[in-house]
Amino acid sequence: MNTDSDSPVKTVYVGMSADLIHPGHLNILRTAASHGLVTVGLLTDKAIASYKRLPYMTFEQRQEVIEAVKGVDRVVPQETLDYVPNLRTYKPDFVVHGDDWKEGVQRQTRQQVIDTLSEWGGKLVEVPYTKGVSSTQLIAAVKQKGTTPGMRLGRLRRMLAAKPLLRFLEAHNGLTGLIVEGAKVVEGSTVREFDGMWLSSLTDSTAKGKPDIEAVDVTSRMQTLNDIVEVTTKPIIYDGDTGGRPEHFAYTVRTLERFGISAVIVEDKVGLKRNSLLGTDVFQEQADIGEFSEKIAVGKRAQVTDDFMIIARIESLILNRGLDDAIERARAFVDAGADGIMIHSREEDPGNIFRFCDAFHAFPRRVPLVVVPSSYNHVSESELEAHGVNVVIYANHLLRSAYPAMLRTAESILGSGRSLESDKEILSIKEVLRLIPGIGFE
Ligand code: SPV
Ligand code: MG
Repeated sequence: MNTDSDSPVKTVYVGMSADLIHPGHLNILRTAASHGLVTVGLLTDKAIASYKRLPYMTFEQRQEVIEAVKGVDRVVPQETLDYVPNLRTYKPDFVVHGDDWKEGVQRQTRQQVIDTLSEWGGKLVEVPYTKGVSSTQLIAAVKQKGTTPGMRLGRLRRMLAAKPLLRFLEAHNGLTGLIVEGAKVVEGSTVREFDGMWLSSLTDSTAKGKPDIEAVDVTSRMQTLNDIVEVTTKPIIYDGDTGGRPEHFAYTVRTLERFGISAVIVEDKVGLKRNSLLGTDVFQEQADIGEFSEKIAVGKRAQVTDDFMIIARIESLILNRGLDDAIERARAFVDAGADGIMIHSREEDPGNIFRFCDAFHAFPRRVPLVVVPSSYNHVSESELEAHGVNVVIYANHLLRSAYPAMLRTAESILGSGRSLESDKEILSIKEVLRLIPGIGFE
């Protein structure tokens, strides 16, 4: 430490996520320690999730690591991306940061730090960016390495605690899993991604050329799941249909936990299950409240891990049984131990869904709320969030986009008597070969 013997010890503030520590971080912390006593403002999961992917390690794990780094005096939570609240609390003499934030999306944050420090004569010290290693590279390497079932399983609960709204997209094989894993849209300082995958019974069955009536049995569904977990790391919510007999559901729960699946959603229907979007056009029978509550309780007793979630899906709006019935069921299913509720509807008008959300919000024990806005898809994520929805599932969209494209190509080949005409709409062989990342042996 480089301080005058008769002047008070200077204080230094460093904000970081500290998920994957590399020499660049150590360089910053060394510089910080040479200016005084170092306080690390460790970004909370919520602060990080507000602009990018949830960190691999929990806040407590990251805190344990960074506290052990030489030169770090103490670690405090930084609850927002904005440094200002913590700077005003700790009034450091210096803030130390890499010089890579002079350009791009962090420019404004940097300026705010300079302005705030000037209120008490503090200074910003910038450390040249360490070339050759970055968190982005390390994250790519970790992704390639994959994940463990336990880490993946627990991620949904962590995400629910860190983010107001999660978005899940349907996957029905390894390739669609990779799309959900990797698709990204960058908007200013925010990277928007899907939080995880929905293993839809509709698209899994349709991809196998079968109707969505539980004819694709649990064993076949697990083969699809196996293909997806082998190549992805994001959390998965499994569409468990009716869950079958309670005695069978107990085994499904344990199988899903072994795969590292975060949650199963089971719907309150009995008999031959038909897809909900068929509504009352076909015969579908809703389960008795008591019996379905017992199925949830059996599943909860069967589960081995603390983090696995059993989410009860209510079909009252699908079957025109009304809002009061849906609310009564939600109460009963939460009391039976459900870790979340999914409310479904096939109406274009979201009125009933919103009324349900508002009533649900007043429940004494509020568990996460899931919706599937297929029919009311003019409603935006932000409107759903405003009504207290926690998870939005886009339940069938990759399959629906693939089918017309594939049919067009088949008809083009038939029509032209050759495949040249289809080339402009399809991937080249080269692109296909590059599509799938290797695992380091090529
Ligand atoms: C599924 O994706 O299989 C579902 C949602 O269960 S829905 O098709 O809307 O019933
Ligand atoms: Mg389904």
